[in-house]
Amino acid sequence: MGSTDKQIAPPQGRVEAWYKVTGSGKYAAEYNIPELAHAVFVTSTIPAGRIKQLHLDDARQVGGVIDIISHLHRPEVSVMLDDKAFKESKFTFKLFHTDEVYFKGQPIAMVIAETPEEAAYAASLVTADYSESAFNTDFENAWSKTTLKTGKDRGNPDASPANAIVVDEVYQIPAEVHHPMEMHATIAQWTSDNKLRLWDKTQGVNMVQKTMSTLMGIPKENIEVTAEFMGGGFGSGLRVWANTLAATLGSKQTGRPVKLVLTRPQMFSLSGYRPQSRQRVKLTADASGKLTGLIHQSWTGTSVYEDFGEDVTRISRLIYGAENLRTESGDVKLNLSTPTYMRAPGECSGAFGLESAMDELSYKLKLDPVTLRMANISDQKHPDNGKPWSTHHLKDALNKGAQMIGWNDRNATPAQQTDGLWQVGYGMAVGMWNAGRSKASAAAVLHPDGSVTIQTAMTDIGTGTGTGMFNMAEATLGVPKDKLHIELGSSKLPPAPNQGGSTGLSSLSGAVIDACNSLQQKLAQLAAGTNKAYQTADPKQIRLGKTEISIAGKEGVSYRSLFAAANGEPIYAEVTSAPGTEKETWAFATSAAHFCKVRVHRHTGKVVVDRYVCVADGGRVVNEKAAANQVIGSVAGGIGMALMEERQVDHRLGSLVGDDLASYHFAVNADVPIVEVAFVGEPDTRLNPAGLKGLGEIGIIGAAPAITNAIYNATGKRHRDLPLTPDKTV
Ligand code: MOS
Repeated sequence: MGSTDKQIAPPQGRVEAWYKVTGSGKYAAEYNIPELAHAVFVTSTIPAGRIKQLHLDDARQVGGVIDIISHLHRPEVSVMLDDKAFKESKFTFKLFHTDEVYFKGQPIAMVIAETPEEAAYAASLVTADYSESAFNTDFENAWSKTTLKTGKDRGNPDASPANAIVVDEVYQIPAEVHHPMEMHATIAQWTSDNKLRLWDKTQGVNMVQKTMSTLMGIPKENIEVTAEFMGGGFGSGLRVWANTLAATLGSKQTGRPVKLVLTRPQMFSLSGYRPQSRQRVKLTADASGKLTGLIHQSWTGTSVYEDFGEDVTRISRLIYGAENLRTESGDVKLNLSTPTYMRAPGECSGAFGLESAMDELSYKLKLDPVTLRMANISDQKHPDNGKPWSTHHLKDALNKGAQMIGWNDRNATPAQQTDGLWQVGYGMAVGMWNAGRSKASAAAVLHPDGSVTIQTAMTDIGTGTGTGMFNMAEATLGVPKDKLHIELGSSKLPPAPNQGGSTGLSSLSGAVIDACNSLQQKLAQLAAGTNKAYQTADPKQIRLGKTEISIAGKEGVSYRSLFAAANGEPIYAEVTSAPGTEKETWAFATSAAHFCKVRVHRHTGKVVVDRYVCVADGGRVVNEKAAANQVIGSVAGGIGMALMEERQVDHRLGSLVGDDLASYHFAVNADVPIVEVAFVGEPDTRLNPAGLKGLGEIGIIGAAPAITNAIYNATGKRHRDLPLTPDKTV
């Protein structure tokens, strides 16, 4: 993010903020490419069947139409013709390579025209004849026919000890949609027969390179992908969707660069969503509150053409040490598009089941919900694999959160506290997430003017990755803020994994710090030519000043003399950093304690979240403001999940309804109180050199149950089906 206007005031907060706020930072759809043509999808109007005929004549008459792509007229993607190769390609469905219709809204054709308006108008004139098949979009009709896959049992989960206290309930979450502000979009341009240039909205440029290389049958080095700025991702950018391939095929067909931007309604079915889920949670405890048994079963929706397989029950193998355990899950096939990862995939849904059930258990046992957690959290070792936690501070988070919200001063008996027409209650829940790290590369470059650029291919989806890199490079090199620049989101830069799963900065930290150290090493060697003191010095002590490098107590060496020795070329240090064997010995996780106070209106059922406290253990906090922002955003997502978010389907038609932002409600500023965020814990340097564990997901894992548990405390009414809209809470 330093490619434009490096002279502008140095970023003190987010490194990308200035570019985003002024509009100078470009999103995928915003690049001006000469000769650009515009594409618009035509989508199926039935949920299942076959296309018998496409009627294109009217569309072809529209001025400006260049071509119309369909399964009858497109460049061939040979991978699509081989089932095994297609599956391995990790692409979704056989776009423009089948007459089969799997869901309503599936792209069946694409109009390419000189302007977006001409393309949209022509696309509206395309019709199709179909032979329709029977279909089902209703999860309720299908889940019971789904076979569950069993995880490895622990102990004897079927045992029913005498005098046991049991909670055995079903919890349900509808499908939810990511809805980043920026629509998924691609500009594709073939610069030669076998060279492809893509500007794509994605959470991983190298992932796009790889998938598109498989689909188009060209080396990945021949594909350049740019995703420098992103207007949010939430998981929707973790794989290649139809728009990227369609634009690529359109460009191949027409010889023009082609831009395709999804419409907001298309964002409901062409870029994934959180699958609908049904969970059964059975908790068995002794009278002291010690969990003796845990059974967690889940059914999650998927499409008819792909098993997505969200692991909702994984969280039941992560937090508590129940001796007897069974987890099972299964995919429910529906005539809807394929879901994907969304905002803490798996654990977020699972926490609603598990942490609601824990709350129910606490009331049955007449035990404080915090005390019940304290008695069961496995804080010494990972309850499933038995490895010791490298760091684990969930109990500290609970203590701190309870104190921040005044937990012990609340009325623990449900439906006792009122404020006029409002019923008031407090709730809590906890969350955990396996912390990870992947192989990543970064470069540190010193330019002759003394400025430093830190580069990596990783995208920053708004999480503050670039800002974290900035903070780490600044601390390692001592370079003045206005001389330090971050470059991200291009496959031309050192390769990096997707940004997702709370692993972005965790993966990059090693590479960034090592690249800075490697640069220091090179500088020490160059400096030793002019100043012998640098021969024996520890290169890590080198600080990069405005005009010279220096080490405390030694005379500085000017950039002028350094670059004379380097022939005036930038000094470039690229490093790849990967996890070692630490996971063989240690277990790593982030955790959070969620507390909130809600009001529920007696007459209207309106729920207001009055206070929200989230205390997280994410290891080292690199940048407190950016880290707290992550948590606040996650909590806002949790409020939407608890109270509003639901993708609606009309099962008679197999059709999404209310597929726009006027009808699909999520939490906005007016729904979110000042979220009180605090951090506990310690740097976990076994995971990565910076000791950070990632904070992307943990703010939402446990948020929805904390709110629904508070609603129970307020009203005495237990809710197990999200979202808690006023018709349910009144
Ligand atoms: Mo995310 S679902 O880790 O982008």
